[in-house]
Amino acid sequence: MNTVVIGAYWGDEGKGKIVDLIAADADWVVRFNGGDNAGHTIVIGDKRVILHTLPSGVLQGKNVAIGPDVFLNPESFLKDCQEVVNKGFKIAGKILIDERTHLIMPYHISLDSSQEASGELKIGTTKRGIGPAAKDKASRTEDITIHDLLQKDFPKRLYAVLRAKKAELAERGIIKDEDELAKYSEAIASRYNKYAGKLRPFTGSVAYELNESIRHGKSIIVEGAQGALLDIVHGTRPYVTSSNTTAGGAFSNLGVNPREFTILGVAKAYPTRVGEGLFPTELKDELGRQIQKEGQEFGATTGRPRRVGMPDLVALKYSAMINGFDAFAVTKIDVLAGKKFKAAIAYEKEGAITARFPFKLDGWSPVYSDKEYYFERFTEQQAIEMAGQGYDSLPDPMKEYFRELVQFTQVPISMVSLSPKREITVRKNALQRTREHLQK
Ligand code: IMP
Repeated sequence: MNTVVIGAYWGDEGKGKIVDLIAADADWVVRFNGGDNAGHTIVIGDKRVILHTLPSGVLQGKNVAIGPDVFLNPESFLKDCQEVVNKGFKIAGKILIDERTHLIMPYHISLDSSQEASGELKIGTTKRGIGPAAKDKASRTEDITIHDLLQKDFPKRLYAVLRAKKAELAERGIIKDEDELAKYSEAIASRYNKYAGKLRPFTGSVAYELNESIRHGKSIIVEGAQGALLDIVHGTRPYVTSSNTTAGGAFSNLGVNPREFTILGVAKAYPTRVGEGLFPTELKDELGRQIQKEGQEFGATTGRPRRVGMPDLVALKYSAMINGFDAFAVTKIDVLAGKKFKAAIAYEKEGAITARFPFKLDGWSPVYSDKEYYFERFTEQQAIEMAGQGYDSLPDPMKEYFRELVQFTQVPISMVSLSPKREITVRKNALQRTREHLQK
């Protein structure tokens, strides 16, 4: 079975763990969007591995692919490979990077940082150069793909691109004059030529590889980066990332048939948000701080504290709609143990009530359902037992909350994660069965 795994809120939902769990049966694990702005944390035994670009399936010796809509920072990709080896894992499968993949160049990072520092149009990016690289990609003329990097005339192309960007680079204080531009170009070309040698063996066509694999009945897990509400089209613009983070983006960007895939939404028990942008259910009180601390809500890429909120069913239902989720995997429910919580079921603004997730969130405040939920804390041993016994053994108030979530969003739950550890997860419905049930 082929599955696309998507974050249902604003990212950091724990997709890494879910992908790692279901990748056990997969032949390929594929990343389709974003870049090293993402940070996927996977805990295996006493090892904690953080990967930014490399799909987490690499830890299980799977074949992994990086699709053409990813923005690849070569240095960061090579560090990911090193992190895997340093933590005692072997890279046993293939690594394939699409030749159409765009590269993050040093000036993208400088431009991103400088735009954020200028204040006026700051959106709280991760400063990994994603926005400027996406801008170049859309220009069609000022971009650099891996294919470009592997050509003999790469230094010439880079120089032409930099000349086209001269005014912007000068305005941002990155280069002063023509002389400096030439030296800047040479320095980057020489550094990137070294990466070319290292990347060349990994380069190929992800679309051909995946389509052939599907034809041969192999199983593919597609791993989304960020979350649906950060989608460049459907997200909370302008506080979004520069790629499609939704399931449709996976299909168009990888060039695969959507009918071959099941779509799994990863819904953290509570939403979090990093960077700027309104967040209707945000908790700015002691409860928020407690969840942040216990859930270790600090960015894996930037170390920034993540803002934390009450569960938001309006956002989840919207996310389910724009992605077509077949099922949810609920993560970090253990963090809500010992805390009273409610879920938002509508938004209100100046007396108007809506169950739709508004494009612009200004002035909208959440309306919570009357039900308040509370379940006792549980130990790791109890979590292991629940994971072994199955869904029915979960605490009643937790299941009651899940009933409200499922009823409201009309999406069944197929997994509940009770701990960062891979094995401490309850599997409710096999995804395949869930899809068949929905199709009836
Ligand atoms: P950028 O992707 O670095 O341009 O940042 C744009 C927005 O997306 C900012 O609000 C970031 O905090 C957010 N963002 C980017 N990547 C992630 C992620 O992996 N998790 C959560 N937020 C992210």
